[in-house]
Amino acid sequence: MKAALEQIKQAALHAAETCADSKGLEELKVKYLGKKGELTAILKQMGKLSAEERPVIGALANQVRSQIEELLKQRGEELGRAAQNARLAAERIDVTVPGSPMPLGHKHPLSIVLDEVKEIFLGMGYDVADGPEVEYDYYNFEALNLPPDHPARDTQDTFYFTDKMLLRTQTSSVQIRVMEKQKPPIRIIAPGRVYRSDAIDATHSPLFHQIEGLVVDKGVTMADLKGTLEILAKRLYGEDCVVRFRPHHFPFTEPSAEMDMQCFNCHGEGCRLCKNEGWIELLGCGMVHPKVLSGCGIDPEEYSGFAFGIGLERLAMRRFGIQDLRLFYENDMRFLSQF
Ligand code: FA5
Ligand code: MG
Repeated sequence: MKAALEQIKQAALHAAETCADSKGLEELKVKYLGKKGELTAILKQMGKLSAEERPVIGALANQVRSQIEELLKQRGEELGRAAQNARLAAERIDVTVPGSPMPLGHKHPLSIVLDEVKEIFLGMGYDVADGPEVEYDYYNFEALNLPPDHPARDTQDTFYFTDKMLLRTQTSSVQIRVMEKQKPPIRIIAPGRVYRSDAIDATHSPLFHQIEGLVVDKGVTMADLKGTLEILAKRLYGEDCVVRFRPHHFPFTEPSAEMDMQCFNCHGEGCRLCKNEGWIELLGCGMVHPKVLSGCGIDPEEYSGFAFGIGLERLAMRRFGIQDLRLFYENDMRFLSQF
């Protein structure tokens, strides 16, 4: 029996030392010390022993039990420490690691250029005016000297809600809204979205942006108009930028002109972008028609004015060397993140 106890002790100690987790330790405890365990089985046979042997074996059995208990406890603590160290190592937070960056948004290229244009005109004493995109026929056409059936309406076909309401084709509607409310001197720009049933290509879109300008005061001349627009071009594009004024017709200005910029892609040679013309139209302009002034209650004998309407997409294309205006609307991050 002594030998059996010794054997149990050795086996238990060895098993405890090689046990790798607390669950295994629990199983060992049951196996050796439990009610149905090996040590208990031995103790149950104590009855067969002589009166002299019984206390000796009893003491030995208790000693073995406490040795096994002690070792299991030690091993349990060891395993507990190891597990905690492993968890600490795995969960360690390095506060010196740089944080993951929050991507910052930025302005759309059209907004960048619009803000530059606003800055230039605010510097010349202009205010910024606003008008609705869903507009009355009256403001978009009629008050601009384009009565129903005027042939020039064909060049600006648009999307109608009713006979009298449409998506505005030009920011010139804001000229009328401003002149109805405000008496000269007037000096405003009015940026905004406009719509036309134009076919889409590298320089045209059915939705685009214009920046309207209107100045009404005593003694305003065509020289003021040209000077103002030349300043705008030079501020945006530098002193060496080449523009030209070309006679044109708008029913609401007289005389009228269009300003072109030399094609920035081919420098006037002719290419796909400028449709081989060497020039790209940037804006329409002219001296406010006397009929438009008097229609808004401003005396054309006393006051004169100039107006212009710039295509914002065209400005931004030249500003950033972009060769297709469709890129502005596609929301492709590879394009947008370059600005
Ligand atoms: C006008 O819209 C006149 N309201 C401009 C004006 C204002 C004249 C004040 C006189 C006084 P036009 O249709 O040419 O004119 O358009 C003005 C500019 O808008 C063009 O020069 C061009 O730069 C831009 N533009 C016209 N159509 C499109 C289009 N489909 N896509 C992109 N840009 C366009
Ligand atoms: Mg035009």
